Amino acid sequence: MFHIIGDLFDAASLTALKEAVAELDYEDGRRTAGALAARVKRNAQAVPGPAREAVIAKVQAGLMASSAFNSAARPKGFARMLVSRYDGGQAYGTHVDDAIMAGARTDLSFTLFLSDADSYAGGGLVVQDRAEDRLIRLNAGEVVLYPSDTLHRVEPVTDGTRFAVVGWVTSWLRDPRQREMLFDLDQAIAFERAGRAEDGQLDRLAQLRSNLLRLWAE
Ligand code: NI
Repeated sequence: MFHIIGDLFDAASLTALKEAVAELDYEDGRRTAGALAARVKRNAQAVPGPAREAVIAKVQAGLMASSAFNSAARPKGFARMLVSRYDGGQAYGTHVDDAIMAGARTDLSFTLFLSDADSYAGGGLVVQDRAEDRLIRLNAGEVVLYPSDTLHRVEPVTDGTRFAVVGWVTSWLRDPRQREMLFDLDQAIAFERAGRAEDGQLDRLAQLRSNLLRLWAE
């Protein structure tokens, strides 16, 4: 299941984040790619260092403060985050993300778009499923969360520069069906809280969610 989440940052924070990302130093993105992915990966990513870590810390804090992100991902931790940059002609061909990164299982992948959609051409994230390709191209500050077990690619950037922070989440729940059921329960609870909290339904929904999480969390 795909989730698109906005409103992670207020306008001033987003502007500061975009400026910080543009000022980082970048190196060949193949450094962190697996052998197969390295054959199709043509981009740049930020060199590790204090400036990059500050960007990643802001992104992580923004995600962890988001109820939508927490509900969709049930994050146990972040296996890795990278700041990526695609200039004209660069792309990332079809690949699957590594199952284990830095000793952690990758359950969900995300891309936080940090360039305004009309400031570059091409560069869509395309995720394959059995029936069709799904093209995702978001505004700056919006993040897409998608299953790490998918084949996906980044289409060539044909004009301008595309900045993004990409990352991988280890979830408390490895089974996406369990995550989706709990997400739906969160939605139902939020709906009930808004109106009919007095009839006991909210308590029952909360009990069911808590017991399912207790049953499944590892
Ligand atoms: Ni990938």
